[in-house]
Amino acid sequence: MWLPAGALLALLAVVSDACPGWTVDCPTLSVPNATEADILAINATLLCRLTMRKGHLHALPALEPAGHLRELDASENALRVLPPVLHFPALRTLNLSHNALTTLPINFLSASPCVTVLDVSYNQLAVVSAGVGLARRRTTHVSLAHNRIVRVDPGALENAVVSRTLDLSHNRLRRFPGDALRRARYLASFSVAFNCVRRLQRGETDDISVGSLDISGQLERIDADAFRNLPALENLTLTHSPGLRFIPADAFGDALPSLRFVNLSRNALLGFERPPFWTDVRVDASGNAFVCHCAHHWLNITCVEASCAPLVLPLLPETAAVALGGSLELRCVALGAERVRWLRADDGLASETSRLRLTHAGREAGGLFTCVASNAMGLARRSVRVSVKDPNVRLFVLSVSATFVTLAWNMSGAAPYVLRWGVDAAALDNASPTFPPAPRAHSYAVHGLRPATAYCFALSLDADVTLDRTCVTTAADGLVGVERSYAAIATLGLAAVAALAACVALCVINARPTRTVRRVELIESVDAAFFIELD
Ligand SMILES: *[C@@H]1O[C@H](CO)[C@@H](O)[C@H](O)[C@H]1NC(C)=O
Ligand SMILES: *[C@@H]1O[C@H](CO)[C@@H](O)[C@H](O)[C@H]1NC(C)=O
Ligand SMILES: *[C@@H]1O[C@H](CO)[C@@H](O)[C@H](O)[C@H]1NC(C)=O
Ligand SMILES: *[C@@H]1O[C@H](CO)[C@@H](O)[C@H](O)[C@H]1NC(C)=O
Ligand SMILES: *[C@@H]1O[C@H](CO)[C@@H](O)[C@H](O)[C@H]1NC(C)=O
Ligand SMILES: *[C@@H]1O[C@H](CO)[C@@H](O)[C@H](O)[C@H]1NC(C)=O
Ligand SMILES: *[C@@H]1O[C@H](CO)[C@@H](O)[C@H](O)[C@H]1NC(C)=O
Repeated sequence: MWLPAGALLALLAVVSDACPGWTVDCPTLSVPNATEADILAINATLLCRLTMRKGHLHALPALEPAGHLRELDASENALRVLPPVLHFPALRTLNLSHNALTTLPINFLSASPCVTVLDVSYNQLAVVSAGVGLARRRTTHVSLAHNRIVRVDPGALENAVVSRTLDLSHNRLRRFPGDALRRARYLASFSVAFNCVRRLQRGETDDISVGSLDISGQLERIDADAFRNLPALENLTLTHSPGLRFIPADAFGDALPSLRFVNLSRNALLGFERPPFWTDVRVDASGNAFVCHCAHHWLNITCVEASCAPLVLPLLPETAAVALGGSLELRCVALGAERVRWLRADDGLASETSRLRLTHAGREAGGLFTCVASNAMGLARRSVRVSVKDPNVRLFVLSVSATFVTLAWNMSGAAPYVLRWGVDAAALDNASPTFPPAPRAHSYAVHGLRPATAYCFALSLDADVTLDRTCVTTAADGLVGVERSYAAIATLGLAAVAALAACVALCVINARPTRTVRRVELIESVDAAFFIELD
């Protein structure tokens, strides 16, 4: 039978309400140092609570029928596997913490509809999958803390309601699990503290229905609009992040109507100006390194002489390097500034905003850039010397014939480079670029050239920045064979390149039956070592 999600949730709610309550004279049993044989000997038919904490269990033995069991504690054992399905119709609390579980069987809670407290902390889980059993369930407390979780499946929290806490702290998530959280109905409190989320980007927390959110112990960067639409959010905790030195005021948008308390203690914050929509928000900003500035009065930070002249925070490096053809972005953060811009050493305007963007950096892109922040009370500056790193790529001529030239270059790694050629410098500049067929190719044969003609070739990055150029005169017509540049091959130290180049040349000749004669002569005329891979 197929049911829409809403109906299923309603059904579950009914089932939950039908879950039996605790009866006074219900027996409980505690098995110390439990082994599987001990547990198999138990008649659990009437038991309400079974504790096997600190035992020697490697697998959970079958206990069914256990129609009255409300609490099962198998924590601090050595559990590696669970049965595919647990049939405990009345079970409310399941504690599997401090075991060695690497996965939870898909749907292992599907026959235990009353479970509202699930503790799987201190195991070795890697993924929170839909099978964990949170989807379409109302729970109060779920802990997946202290595992090795790297991923939360987007459907894992589908329509979930967690009325107290969902704890994913101390795991290995590298991205904030926004996609999964957005599909939950409501989470009273959610923690991803002490994971590996270094950066929180624009909109990543949008439309999550959460009352308290904890992202402590990891962030280094928070972008504008990182928190812009969290209608239920009351408490935000961002503490213990030694790499977090600044929070932009525009990280917080205007759709946080419930926000009351933000804990920012024990970060490395130098600056945080009051977000525009915060009127009634309490902040704990203790244990940071806030600079003394009047922009921080609102945080109740007392400092001797809080000036209101602009202050550029020391977040910029003194020097920065950009690869030739690459890009660089520098953001100048200033407190109390009405205007922030970037000037070049010659006082030319480089950017009218706090962001300096250099793209397709040419050789002349480097130099001294100064961020100037100003308000009615004065000016503040900070400079960055930008250098352009030339990868020093050289273009070599490997071989020359009357109609084709084979070129090679010593670029390491794949880059978006192009080749152009023409009969003189002007023709070269106007020539349409050719992209080598494979991104990692290090050589290319240019065909269809005129005999006894001078050609220039250029290797460029990103169509704009020329890395190297070289000129060569093709052989006279009628001359057969290939003139090789052994010096170039030696320089490159790449016999493979030479073989490839020769192959390219031969394949092309092969494709033209009229030149078969040439091919034979060619083979005779060159070192056999280069042709090993051909036949
Ligand atoms: C359980 O094991 C511990 C250590 O192995 C031992 O000290 C303790 O007496 C055992 N408890 C019972 C009830 O057997
Ligand atoms: C377990 O206990 C129940 C209720 O006391 C009883 O009906 C049942 O026969 C017992 N089962 C076994 C295998 O002893
Ligand atoms: C589960 O057991 C562990 C250790 O045995 C305990 O610390 C933890 O509080 C228990 N979890 C719940 C939800 O009771
Ligand atoms: C927010 O924190 C306050 C004070 O710690 C607490 O009383 C309140 O219940 C929290 N709100 C939520 C939704 O967790
Ligand atoms: C903020 O977090 C810190 C560190 O976890 C804690 O010590 C402090 O009590 C919290 N502040 C408030 C007001 O709850
Ligand atoms: C600063 O202190 C005042 C008075 O104690 C308090 O009302 C206000 O909320 C505090 N400001 C912040 C941002 O916590
Ligand atoms: C390419 O070759 C030239 C000349 O031999 C050398 O100076 C340069 O460092 C090489 N570049 C790379 C990226 O290996």
